[in-house]
Amino acid sequence: MKGVITAGGLGTRLYPMTKVTNKHLLPIYDLPMIYYPIQALINAGINDIMIITGGNNAGDFIRLLGNGKEFGLKRLSYVYQEGEGGIAAAISLTRDFVGNDRVAIMLGDNIIEKNFAKAVHDFQKQERGAKILLKEVDHPESYGVPTIQDKLIVKITEKPKNPDTNYAVIGIYLYDNRVFDIIDRLKPSGRGELEITDVNNAYIEEGTLTYEILDGWWADCGEDRTSLFEASCLVAKTGANKL
Ligand code: DAU
Repeated sequence: MKGVITAGGLGTRLYPMTKVTNKHLLPIYDLPMIYYPIQALINAGINDIMIITGGNNAGDFIRLLGNGKEFGLKRLSYVYQEGEGGIAAAISLTRDFVGNDRVAIMLGDNIIEKNFAKAVHDFQKQERGAKILLKEVDHPESYGVPTIQDKLIVKITEKPKNPDTNYAVIGIYLYDNRVFDIIDRLKPSGRGELEITDVNNAYIEEGTLTYEILDGWWADCGEDRTSLFEASCLVAKTGANKL
């Protein structure tokens, strides 16, 4: 299985910190943010990774990470996204890299305490489709939120005003190869983006989306300065990416 990390976007919610650098290069406790999703993918057994970056200072990723040798990666590749067309638009740039394989996508501003190796293991046994991970949160309205009936996800709503559950769809997505055809058929949302939530809803309609609940804490540290600070505190207190 291939690994993909989204690290594009302009990070305007974190201005002025992101005026001269990419959000994913900012420190979370003692490491640049991008180190955490790389290690999370490695802990899930994935060692062939592509980073999607964009905006200014994209070259700094190569200066920081090189060919991934420091992490023991088999291969570390990069692709450049122009503009901010959405997470699904970013993923479509990795089609040739993924080839006929399956793909684990991790959003570059997501950090987890433990690992998602079991989800990858279970997904490998799933004949086709997708698997996502959920986590119970205090403010689901900031995220993609599932509606669950009889233990099945029947739809996901992006940043709903009145969430149906207290779960967030976290930024780790396991897809079969058909994800690229699904993205090809997507239309931009109200905010002009190709939404990852619409990709997941397409798998729900097909009846092939499964889910698991993530073990340990989860942080989306790119939301604002508070989330950045809180993620640093969590990492300092308990550590991240535990095996
Ligand atoms: O963190 C989990 C949430 O991530 C999910 O619950 C939501 O369903 C999902 O839409 C996403 O919401 P965010 O509002 O947090 O997404 P954000 O715009 O912060 O982008 C997430 C990551 O993807 C971040 O690392 C930047 C990268 N990105 C984003 C866009 C819009 C790209 O690489 N290219 C893009 O065009």
